Amino acid sequence: MLGTHPDRISKTTNPPRQKPNIEDYDLARADFSWQTANSKLFGDVADVCSSKYNITYNCVDRHAEDSRRDKTALLYAAEDGSTERFTYADLKKQTNKFANVLSGLGVNKNDRVFIFMPAIPERYIAFLGILKLGAVVGTMFAAFQEEALLDRLSDSEASVVVTNTELLPRIQNIQSKLPCLQKIIVVQRGSTELPVASNVVAYEAAMQDASDSFQTVAVKPEDFAYMLYTSGTTGKPKGVIHSHSDIVQAMATTSAVLDIQENDIYWCTADIGWVTGVVYGVLGIWGLGGTSVLYEGRFSPENWYRVLQDHKVTVWYSAPTAIRMLMGSGVDTASYDFSHLRHLCSVGEPSNPEAIWWGLEVFGLPFHDTWWQTELGGICISNLPALDIKPGSMGKPLPGIEAAILDPAGNVLAPGQQGSLALRASTVQSLMKTIWHNQGKYDSYFIGDWYISGDSAYCDADGYFWFVGRNDDVINTAGERIGPFEVESALVEHPNVVEAAVIGKPDAVRGEIIKAFVVLKDGVKTSDELKKELQQFVKSHLSGHSYPREIDFIDHLPKTRSGKIMRRVLKAKELGLPTGDTSTLENY
Ligand code: WT7
Repeated sequence: MLGTHPDRISKTTNPPRQKPNIEDYDLARADFSWQTANSKLFGDVADVCSSKYNITYNCVDRHAEDSRRDKTALLYAAEDGSTERFTYADLKKQTNKFANVLSGLGVNKNDRVFIFMPAIPERYIAFLGILKLGAVVGTMFAAFQEEALLDRLSDSEASVVVTNTELLPRIQNIQSKLPCLQKIIVVQRGSTELPVASNVVAYEAAMQDASDSFQTVAVKPEDFAYMLYTSGTTGKPKGVIHSHSDIVQAMATTSAVLDIQENDIYWCTADIGWVTGVVYGVLGIWGLGGTSVLYEGRFSPENWYRVLQDHKVTVWYSAPTAIRMLMGSGVDTASYDFSHLRHLCSVGEPSNPEAIWWGLEVFGLPFHDTWWQTELGGICISNLPALDIKPGSMGKPLPGIEAAILDPAGNVLAPGQQGSLALRASTVQSLMKTIWHNQGKYDSYFIGDWYISGDSAYCDADGYFWFVGRNDDVINTAGERIGPFEVESALVEHPNVVEAAVIGKPDAVRGEIIKAFVVLKDGVKTSDELKKELQQFVKSHLSGHSYPREIDFIDHLPKTRSGKIMRRVLKAKELGLPTGDTSTLENY
């Protein structure tokens, strides 16, 4: 197939199915100002502290108090096919109750409250209720195991965790190591068993008793709102802190890129443990007063096609790995009705042209790739409904955003030259506010007013940006950002392992897979069973999805004389590429 397609999808021959919110990119870019965007939402931005800046006021209360009060905000589709609908008025009531529950437990503004739940409506109620109180909400994947949980909850000094009966034991197993953790709120959803413990609070009972009126807490736009842990090359995951003012970029981009309009049914497939699930699963869509589908069940092509069909999804935001899995599944799409779909977007990893052409073939629509990062809090570079797509490109900087390719000294490079992808920090309203308890790390992201993304890219003569790769050892598997250090740390905890190095190995479906090189203790025999055991060990200690799909046993790791593992040498060898200068390596 490759090579038989043109290098551009013209929007003249493939026009958007509906008049898009942005009809002329150049005009929108020329007209845009963050000041106007802020005053449109916040009104008099001279106010110092007001509940109107609160994310939950903008996502829920505002709509519950106007003509959208009975509009469906959340359409929950459970795996068994049952559905539950929450209107904006319902969300207001429920989030008021939850804020009251937290307040009754002594939670205050700026305290950290973490969510550790599967995809059920309560996690959205909790998320928005925490913000309503002015507390800082942290999210975590339900796949996380004790190591990953402990890292995040101890670093953030979280005082409350909201979880469910099934996941509760993982928190209880580590609570003795979490001196700041005061309460665990547990959603039961029908399961009756709840261990009796003084720090465990039953969600349903507490919600029943709580008042449904609450005064949304006044915040300043720059007050902390949510935090997400993300991985770099070294050390433990870092807590990226975002503020209430992020709502403006979330809404602007949900309108410009996802093109949400009043009657859309929108499905963001991202989990809330991921920044996409926060910004585009909550902030943007509800900021605009839209209707969002939440699918609880597991990924399977049949399940996903059924969600698209049965709920008449119009706008779909997904990820390249999922698209490649659908493509590769061979499931016959002809028996499904996708006629309601009108706009498709993807994020998280390079979107290969074949996937975009496949979308056009199966849905009659191309996927619009979008680029951003946890630290950025919102889409910065993107394809847009009214812009021609160059398959394989991430698109253009959004209105308001200045992007550039820099050399190592921070000079802007000319079109066509590959370098470091950077954004003018002052043009990204939703840029993180800090790294929790790590100002030094935060500062290291910047050269002057440029925020350095860590990706390398180039910009072509038409102003389209093209992703080349990461400048560091961070792994992107199925769109998820994994720090090699975390996986290495989990591996070395196994009694047979002396040390380990972990790299991302290119993979046709997942983008990359995690590959580990493991040095075993003297006398330990290598075997396939041991590989399986190590995989299981990482799955059950760190997280269900961050385990090495491939393991090689080796005698020693390439290291610098100062003891730093040279992952790039292992990666080059793995790929059959030149290993570069190895003169600084010890013992290799
Ligand atoms: C990293 C950020 C974007 C929100 C979810 C992921 C990679 C992201 C693309 C894209 C190529 C992409 C980059 C980036 N990435 N989008 N469209 N094309 N690569 O956020 O977990 O913070 O990861 O994901 O390497 O730096 P994240």
